[in-house]
Amino acid sequence: MLEPTYLTETQFLNNLDLRKEIEQGLLSETALISPKFLYDNLGSHLFTAITLLPEYYPTKTEKSIFEKNKLDIAQALGLKKGLIDLGAGNCQKAESLFHSLQPSSYTAIDFSIDYLKEILPQLQNKYPEIEMFGIGMDFSKNLKLPNSVTTSSHNFFYPGSSIGNFTKTDAQQLLTQIKAELREGGLLIGVDLMKEDSILFNAYDDPLKLTAAFNLNILRVVNSLIGSDFNVAEFKHYIKINHSLQRVELYLEALKDTTVTWADHIRTFKCGELIHTENSHKYTPESIKNLLTSAGFQSFHLWTDPKNYFALIYAT
Ligand code: AVI
Repeated sequence: MLEPTYLTETQFLNNLDLRKEIEQGLLSETALISPKFLYDNLGSHLFTAITLLPEYYPTKTEKSIFEKNKLDIAQALGLKKGLIDLGAGNCQKAESLFHSLQPSSYTAIDFSIDYLKEILPQLQNKYPEIEMFGIGMDFSKNLKLPNSVTTSSHNFFYPGSSIGNFTKTDAQQLLTQIKAELREGGLLIGVDLMKEDSILFNAYDDPLKLTAAFNLNILRVVNSLIGSDFNVAEFKHYIKINHSLQRVELYLEALKDTTVTWADHIRTFKCGELIHTENSHKYTPESIKNLLTSAGFQSFHLWTDPKNYFALIYAT
């Protein structure tokens, strides 16, 4: 059986920096937990389930754009190049492009190496002709890739509007790093576009409560990483649409006064107090092009859907 190559692994349990980052966030005046901690193995499965919800339009809309413009996309990206998938998750989006792009290699990068190890072996067996690499990496801080995956001509693939989970400053920094890692290729990126509140509410506070479970799971991840004693039952999922910053904000709201302790720290939450867990920025075609330009990209090819819900951009 052909095996993918795993290059680096996120040292979840021993990573002092990750633990410090969580502690600092919890001790801030408005407590915050970085959205990357949503994606342990269970969180990644919950996110995959969210993408199947009828209310969660981004994944379906992006898929319809891929399908409708396959040939055009292949022509823009070029054939038989390496494909580097940032935040690969279940790798399905990249797989949907394998036929038209015929990549020489496929590198899946994700925060959760455990999830990649579940997904990649099956994919490698299905496509033995593509050399596959799995990298567990927190690229939100620093994107430095091993030479083995960047020596050949390659394209980056950053679908799903994951760039929307970064602040504008952090997004610009990440895009600048992607540009620096490129030789001849470009970046194929998916971004969610601004739309009516009702659509956003249903997508981010779905009636089946999958997004609530996904959001609450972050407290379990934090408990296992820093040894805290969050009681998940004492918090609820809450969202706000912030029009001035053009984003959906996810929070966990304390249902009663509660105290959380870990190591030699203590944090109290008043009933109704919020922990900020995620921002999901929404762009316009102009604002995303401006952001990409500020990161050094110069030319753009943009595809969208008939409702203008989502945009796919190839930037070089
Ligand atoms: C991964 N990311 C683009 C998702 C989003 O829509 O911002 C994460 C998510 N959060 C709640 N639902 C989905």
